[in-house]
Parts: sequence; C-alpha cells; structure tokens
Amino acid sequence: MFEIKKICCIGAGYVGGPTCSVIAHMCPEIRVTVVDINESRINAWNSPALPIYEPGLKEVVESCRGKNLFFSTNIDDAIKEADLVFISVNTPTKTYGMGKGRAADLKYIEACARRIVQNSHGYKIVTEKSTVPVRAAESIRRIFDANTKPNLNLQVLSNPEFLAEGTAIKDLKNPDRVLIGGDETPEGQRAVQALCAVYEHWVPREKILTTNTWSSELSKLVPNAFLAQRISSINSISALCEATGADVEEVATAIGMDQRIGNKFLKASVGFGGSCFQKDVLNLVYLCEALNLPEVARYWQQVIDMNDYQRRRFASRIIDSLFNTVTDKKIAILGFAFKKDTGDTRESSSIYISKYLMDEGAHLHIYDPKVPREQIVVDLSHPGVSKDDQVARLVTISKDPYEACDGAHAVVICTEWDMFKELDYERIHKKMLKPAFIFDGRRVLDGLHNELQTIGFQIETIGKKVSSKRIPYAPSGEIPKFSLQDMPNKKPRV
Ligand SMILES: NC(=O)c1ccc[n+]([C@@H]2O[C@H](COP(=O)([O-])OP(=O)(O)OC[C@H]3O[C@@H](n4cnc5c(N)ncnc54)[C@H](O)[C@@H]3O)[C@@H](O)[C@H]2O)c1
Repeated sequence: MFEIKKICCIGAGYVGGPTCSVIAHMCPEIRVTVVDINESRINAWNSPALPIYEPGLKEVVESCRGKNLFFSTNIDDAIKEADLVFISVNTPTKTYGMGKGRAADLKYIEACARRIVQNSHGYKIVTEKSTVPVRAAESIRRIFDANTKPNLNLQVLSNPEFLAEGTAIKDLKNPDRVLIGGDETPEGQRAVQALCAVYEHWVPREKILTTNTWSSELSKLVPNAFLAQRISSINSISALCEATGADVEEVATAIGMDQRIGNKFLKASVGFGGSCFQKDVLNLVYLCEALNLPEVARYWQQVIDMNDYQRRRFASRIIDSLFNTVTDKKIAILGFAFKKDTGDTRESSSIYISKYLMDEGAHLHIYDPKVPREQIVVDLSHPGVSKDDQVARLVTISKDPYEACDGAHAVVICTEWDMFKELDYERIHKKMLKPAFIFDGRRVLDGLHNELQTIGFQIETIGKKVSSKRIPYAPSGEIPKFSLQDMPNKKPRV
C-alpha cells in the first residue's frame, strides 16, 4: 500500500489550518505543511496570535508546530515534496458573470490544480477538501490530463470537511464520519486506502466511508442544505408563534422529543450565517437549475428566502417597536460573529441587521468579544452594505458591552455569546434611555425575562410574545431584500 509521509495543504483558512493541525497532532510521523498565498495569514499561524479563533486550536498547534507541522508561503516546494496535497482554498459564491449570486466560484481551485500539475512528478494524491459542486474533481482531472508529462500520475480524491466553526477541534478529533470519494479503478482505490490509513490513526474504521467521487461531492452540499432547511423551518414557525401566542422554544422542545425528528438545529433565531450554509444551498439551487430540475431548485431556494425574511422581519420589528423610527437613535448591537465561539463574520446576520438599521439612520454601537474592530469596519463598509461616509457617521465599535449600551434606546443581541447572559442588566438599564428595549435575536435571555421585566426592560424576542403591551407584529414589507452577493464587485474601504 502507498504510504503517505508528507502532506501539503493549500489554503490556511478556517478549514486548512485546523484540519491539518489535527492531522499533524494525531500522526506525529507525517510531516504536514500548510501553505497560502496570504503572507500575513501564514505569519499569524507562525506567531502566538493565530489568525482564527477556535476553542482548543492553540494547544493543538503549539503541540506540533516546528516539529511535524509547518506554515509557509513556499507553495511550490511544499507541493513538490508532498505525497498528498489537500486543496482547502475558498470557493465563494460567484459575484460576477454566469451563475452570479448562486454558483460556486472555482477560480481558486483551478489555480491550485494548475500549480499542482506544474510542480509534480511521479505519483501524488490530490484531494479536494474545499466544498465544490458535483463534478469539480472531474474538472481538476481534465486540467491534469491536459498538462500531463512522462511519469506523472496524479490521483484525484474528494474528502469534504464537515467541521463546524466554534467546535472545529472537537469535530476533527471525533468526527461523525470521514468521507472519502475516489475512482472505482484499482489506482483510484489505492489512493482511497492511502488516505484512509491517515485517518485511521484516530478515527475508527467504521466511521470512514468510501464512495465514488460524485457521491462524496454531493454528500457535502446536502447536509448543509438539510441543516439550513431545519433552521428555516423553525424560523418560519417562529413567525407563526409571534402571531398566535405560542412559544417557538416550547414547540421546538415538543417536536424535538419525537425521535424521528430529533432535537438538533431547532433553535429559532435572527437567521443563519457563516460562509457555508447560504453558499452551499445556492450552489445546490444552481446545480438543479443547470440540470433542468426547476422544482427542486425552487424548493431549496425557499430555504434562503426564509432566512432573508427572518432577518428583515427582525429589523422591521426593532424599527416598529421603537415608535417607527430609529433615525438618530443609539442602538447597541451585541455580537457581530455569525455564531458564538468564532471570530468569523462571513454572512453574519449582524451585517444584515446593521445595514437595515443604518439605512434608517440609526447610530450603532457594536460590541463583539472576538471580532476585531477592523473586521467590523470592513464588513459594514462593503459597497452595497453602506454608502458614502455612513460607517464613519453611524458606527462606533465599543470595547465592552456596557460602553455599547450606555445611553442607548435599545440593545439588540445578534450572536449567542454566553457572556451576554451574565451581563449586569440593572447597570445597563440605569444608563439607557427609557423605555429601554432589548431585542433578543438569539433567545439567550430566556431564563431572565421576569428579572429583566422587573428591572423595567421591554423585551422583544424571536418566536414569543413576551410583552403584552404590543400588538402582534405584522411585517410592513418596507425593508427591501438585500444580499451580500448582489453587491457591486468593488474593494471595500478600510
Ligand atoms: N469554514 C467552514 O466552516 C467550512 C467547513 C467545511 C467546509 N468548508 C469549505 O472549505 C473551503 C475553505 O473554507 P475556509 O473557510 O477555510 O476558507 P478561508 O477563506 O478561510 O481560507 C481559504 C484560504 O485559501 C487561500 N487561497 C486561495 N487561493 C489560493 C491559492 N491559489 N494558493 C494558495 N492559497 C490560496 C486564501 O488566501 C485563504 O487563506 C471552502 O470551500 C468552504 O466551503 C468550510
């Protein structure tokens, strides 16, 4: 059997970095080199301040960095030396041309394929770890075949990554399954077995599934689509709960006890974010359209539409509750990451809520425990999110939550950070304008409603009518639809 001794991973992002750090940690005899074109990212991986925040990551990196784990910008040499190359580059939704706003942009994958073939001799296994549309491995193979040279033998595998940000290290150390797709030829199967042997260092064999390449590629898009669909389903019910007096958390508990349904991913919220869910569902929609399956495409598109609706509904509710105007009002936004335990803001609902409130002239004071100031400014300055000097005029980044809430008309919780449950709300209330509103977009304050109401807060939350003072909310439909993918393709101002 072919034995993998050296691994190169192209792309030192949220997937490449943690995945290869865990491989190096679990396989001390394999030399793992993670490379990237982004020099500052590589420098950060080589420093005490890693470029991404992930619980447990620092310890794993520090246990093997400089021993069998290396971060480098020398991509060509790392490819040359490797027995196996992971492609872990980004595959964002296209913002231009055919498939704009839906198809995955494969230009970074193609650049990697060309660089690999240029720098390879003899036998090498090339593994797509990035999330790609079905048949992307086929495109990589065609690039290899068109540039082949004597003695070159490149085997292409698909090994999608299922880690979730915030629990990446836990997920990587103890995965539900590892999926490896390869050609059904003897050569393809030899490559599959070689990669299986790497994972077998710590993953039980029965959790390592092997399939054909296309099944493997599709089996990455589908779970994300199913998870996003569950969130959109419970969010749709949250709207119904607000209109009827039911509580979506009680409904979720009741239906989650049905073993056929299960209790995971039934948390109603201001909407899902992150780099994967929307991108992968849109990718699936595009694939179905391209394959002339319009009914299937429409079915999955509705998952995205419901998510957009939930964000607009929440923003409308804030404006509606604040006496139909937020112009010149100070609003504290607590949480900017797309979920807790990560500093990642890609597709975060906070960006959307901030945009809607900025469009109405609100002054936003934003606090997040892990997202750097510069990142919030970059996200909100993106063309399409804000215009002219809107960010400079309307946005302040706060160093702590109390500063953000000082003198505010309302507190809006957009990320479920645990620390927001433990704030001194009495202190916050004292310094806010009255009536003081809390809009809980994540249901983190559920256990505190009585206490908060006694303090004097007016609480508005997703999927439950807390205050009896308000009439049931009906969306005005005034907030127009907006997508980060529709934005003009301009560089953001920093
Ligand atoms: N983030 C997640 O939770 C997650 C989970 C599972 C799968 N995925 C998939 O994994 C892939 C990577 O996602 P990510 O979140 O790590 O992205 P990322 O943007 O954090 O990292 C990608 C890295 O690739 C680098 N890169 C791009 N082109 C390159 C090239 N030609 N040569 C060298 N480096 C190059 C970029 O500089 C960047 O640092 C995507 O396809 C994504 O859909 C992501």
